[in-house]
Amino acid sequence: MNFTDATLARFAKEVAKYPADQKQSAVMACPAIVQQEQGHVSADSEKAVAEYLGMPPIAVHEVTTFYNMYNQQPVGRFKLNVCTNLPCQLRGGQKALDHVCGKLGVEDGGTTTDGQFTVQHSECLGACADAPVLLVNDREMCSFMSTDRLDALLDTLRKG
Ligand code: FES
Repeated sequence: MNFTDATLARFAKEVAKYPADQKQSAVMACPAIVQQEQGHVSADSEKAVAEYLGMPPIAVHEVTTFYNMYNQQPVGRFKLNVCTNLPCQLRGGQKALDHVCGKLGVEDGGTTTDGQFTVQHSECLGACADAPVLLVNDREMCSFMSTDRLDALLDTLRKG
């Protein structure tokens, strides 16, 4: 995998934020840049980032698999992370995930055949008091997601 000059320039800007002997500190930023540009971080990209930062590929893989904002494969136009961690579980988190999956006809982690939605469970999103919660495209938090509110959200996203 060869990154473009523009991508390498963005990597260099991140690496420059740290002391010269600690460029590995950009291990979160570089995959994020790859994902912004390519939609996901492939295994080949992880290896190339590792080579660029002078670290083992597994160390990059550990980061991209720990944080579910990183996508290991292409995702739909709308990526829906439904929290199923304990506080949300106690207030319908699993029910919300099952409802979204059922409505869209996908398994947890799956993408609809039209490429519009990817649904996956997630760990705590830091909004336990608003459970059940769902995060759209790693940015927009949706709170108190009853089945009615989930249906309304899916309709809005479909139209949007
Ligand atoms: S457990 Fe779901 S947001 Fe914290």
